[in-house]
Amino acid sequence: MSITISKNKVYLLNTAHTSYAFFEDEDGILAHLYWGKRIDDIEELEPVTVTGEQGYHPVTDRKQEECSSYGMMRYKEGSLKVAFSDGVRDFRYRVAGHSVEENHLKITLEDVHYKFRVHLHYIVYEEEDIIERYREAENFGEDEVILERFHSAEYPIYGTGYSSLNCNGTWADEFKPYSDTLNAGKKAYESLRGSVAHVGSPYFIIHKDADETSGDVYFGALSYSGNFKVVAEQTPYQFLNVLIGISDTDFEWKLKAGECFRTPSVYAGFSGEGFGAMSNNLSLFARRHVMPQDKAEKPLRVLYNSWEATTFDVTCEKQMELAKKAAALGTELFVVDDGWFGERNDDHAGLGDWYVNPKKFPQGLKPLIDCVKSLGMDFGIWIEPEMVNEDSDLYRAHPDWIYRYETRPVLEGRYQYMLDLTNPAVTDYIIERIDELLSENDISYIKWDMNRALGECGSSFQKPEEFKSIWVKHVEGFYHTIRELRRRHPDVEFEACASGGGRADYGCMHYFDEFWTSDNTDPLVRLSIQETYSYLYPVKYMRAWVTDAASAGARVIPLEFKLHCAMCGALGIGMNLNKATEEQLAEVKEGVALYKSIRNTVQFGTLHRLKSLHRDDFHALSYDRDGQVVVFAFLIRQARGQEEYLLKLQGLKKDTKYRFTLDGKEYTKSGAYLMNHGLFLKMRGDYRSKCIVMEEVFTK
Ligand code: GLA
Repeated sequence: MSITISKNKVYLLNTAHTSYAFFEDEDGILAHLYWGKRIDDIEELEPVTVTGEQGYHPVTDRKQEECSSYGMMRYKEGSLKVAFSDGVRDFRYRVAGHSVEENHLKITLEDVHYKFRVHLHYIVYEEEDIIERYREAENFGEDEVILERFHSAEYPIYGTGYSSLNCNGTWADEFKPYSDTLNAGKKAYESLRGSVAHVGSPYFIIHKDADETSGDVYFGALSYSGNFKVVAEQTPYQFLNVLIGISDTDFEWKLKAGECFRTPSVYAGFSGEGFGAMSNNLSLFARRHVMPQDKAEKPLRVLYNSWEATTFDVTCEKQMELAKKAAALGTELFVVDDGWFGERNDDHAGLGDWYVNPKKFPQGLKPLIDCVKSLGMDFGIWIEPEMVNEDSDLYRAHPDWIYRYETRPVLEGRYQYMLDLTNPAVTDYIIERIDELLSENDISYIKWDMNRALGECGSSFQKPEEFKSIWVKHVEGFYHTIRELRRRHPDVEFEACASGGGRADYGCMHYFDEFWTSDNTDPLVRLSIQETYSYLYPVKYMRAWVTDAASAGARVIPLEFKLHCAMCGALGIGMNLNKATEEQLAEVKEGVALYKSIRNTVQFGTLHRLKSLHRDDFHALSYDRDGQVVVFAFLIRQARGQEEYLLKLQGLKKDTKYRFTLDGKEYTKSGAYLMNHGLFLKMRGDYRSKCIVMEEVFTK
C-alpha cells in the first residue's frame, strides 16, 4: 500500500525506498512530519501539535505546513495568497476531508468562513520513488476570489545547514551550476520571461554534503513552461521551507463563482544515495509518465541539421548537396533549419509567414524531400510559430495579434514580436498553417524554436484588469497549440528549442520528444552544460551536435573529442559538410556507426557521473543497460608528468565479467575489479577522449 492513513490522522506516502508523512494537527492544520528513507510502520510516526502563544514565536510561523498561506502571523513566505471580495487576505482553514483512489490522495482544506477551498493532490509512484503534487483552488461561493500566489507545493525540510544546487546562465551559456549554502533568509530562483528561459531552472535540489553516490538529496522539478519561482527559506525554527510553482511576481488569477484553478505538477523525490539516484529515478519516471508515450521508448535518430552550414542561405540545390553528404555519413534525419519560408533572408523578416519561399524552392519542398527520402533519410524542418516579424504579411494583416501596450512603442527582441496566444484566432492560425505544412509535405520532425522573451504583458484581446493573467494564459495557448498539432500529426517528432536550452522543462516534456540543449556547441563548454543538464533532465532529451565550433582560433579541439562529447547525448551532426575533408567525413561516419551500436544504452541506460568537470580537468561518465556499459572519458588539460588517469566505474555487478577493448588490446575484467581497483587510462595531451564499450560476459 503506497498510501496509509492512521487513526490519529497521520498520512504516510511510501515509495520503494522513501517515505513522506504529514498529519492533521489539533488545530485542523495539515502539518509536515517526515521526508526521507522509508519507514514502514505508520504507528511509529508521532504527531505533535505545535502550541504556545502568538507573541514572540508565533505558532503559525513555527508550524511546518503542507500549505501555508499569507497572513495569520505567518512571516515566512507561504505558498498561497488569496484575496476575498471584502478585502480579507488570509486563508483560515480546517481539513475538510480526503479521498484515496489507488495511488492518488486528495485532501481538501476549507476556509472557516468563505466558500473557498484548496485541494492538495499527492500521486505516489512507488517504483520510481517519485511523488507528484499539484493543487486546485475552488471558489464555490458567489463572490469573486483573487489568487495572488498559488504555488504547486510546499516542502518543509527539517534541520539547518542545507545547500541548494541550481543553474545560472544566459543564451549559449546556460546550465552553469551554482551551489548555495542556505543560511538565514531566502534564496529564490525565478523566471519572468514567459518561458523558463536560460537563467535558473524550475526545480530544487537541496542536500547536505551529498555527492554522486552518497548523501541525502531532496529534489523536485516543476512541470511548467512559463514564469516560475522556487524559494528556499531557512526559518529560525529549524526547518527549511521550500516552495515551487508559478511565479507570483506579476500573477493574479480571478476565480469567479464556481471556478477552479489548477497548478502545474511538481515531480519530487528523496535520494539517500546522492545525486546519481536522483537523476536516474527522475529520468525513469519521465520516460514512464511524462514523455509522449508513443515515442518514449524509441531511440532518437541521428540527425543532420544544416543551420551552421548555411544559416539563412537556404536553397533547394544547396540543401540537396548537403543531404547527399549527410546520408553518406549514416545520418537518419535531414533537417532544414531557419530560412526556408516567407521573405526570410536574415532575422529581420518573414516570421509568421509559414509558406515555402518560391525563389528558394520553386517547386515547393517536394523535390528536396524526395531527394532526402531517396537517400534513405527522413525529413525535418524548423519553425518558430509563436513569433512574428514586423516585416511579414502576417503582421501587416494583423498588427493587433501581438502582446503590446497601446501607449508604448512595441519592444523587439531579435527583431521580432511575440504573438498573443491568449487569442484563439491566433492559435487557430498557427495550428492551421503548420497543419497544412505537415499535411502537404512528408515531414517527420519539427524543431520548434522560440527566440525572444515576453516583455510587455498587454493584449488587445484581454481586458486591462486581466493583464496579470496573460503570463499563464500564454502558456495555456502554447500547450493548446502543440497538443492540437500532435493530435493531428501523431507520427511527427517534435523538438523544443528556445535559443538553445531555454525550454528544457517538464511542462514541455509532455509535448516534445527532445530538447535542444544549447546553441553553444563548443565541446569544452558543452561538456559542462551537459553535466549540469543531466542532473534533472533525461539524457535522451539532450540533443548534442558535432559542429565546426571551436575548431578555429586559439582552441583546436580534435574531431574525436567533439564526437565523443555529442555521443554522450542524442547525437546530431551540424558541421558544414562542404568544408569537411575526406578524413573528417570518414571519422564522422565511423562515429555515427559506433553511436548507433550504443545509443540504446546512452539514451535509456543508468547514468553515472564518474568524474565531474566542475571539479577536475578529467571528466568521465558511464551508462549501463542490458549487459552493455558505455564509458566516456575526457581529459581537458594534461597535468604535468601525468599520463595515466585512474577511473573507477560504478553500478556494475561485482561478480560479472566485462569484455572490452582499450587502446587496441582486449580485456576481460570483473565488475569488482573495475569498480574497486579501476582502470588506468593512458591519456597524453590536451582535449583527449576515449569511448570504451563493455559487454557483459554471460556464463552458464
Ligand atoms: C536559434 C536556435 C538555433 C537556430 C536559430 C535559427 O538561435 O537556437 O538552433 O535554429 O535560432 O534562427
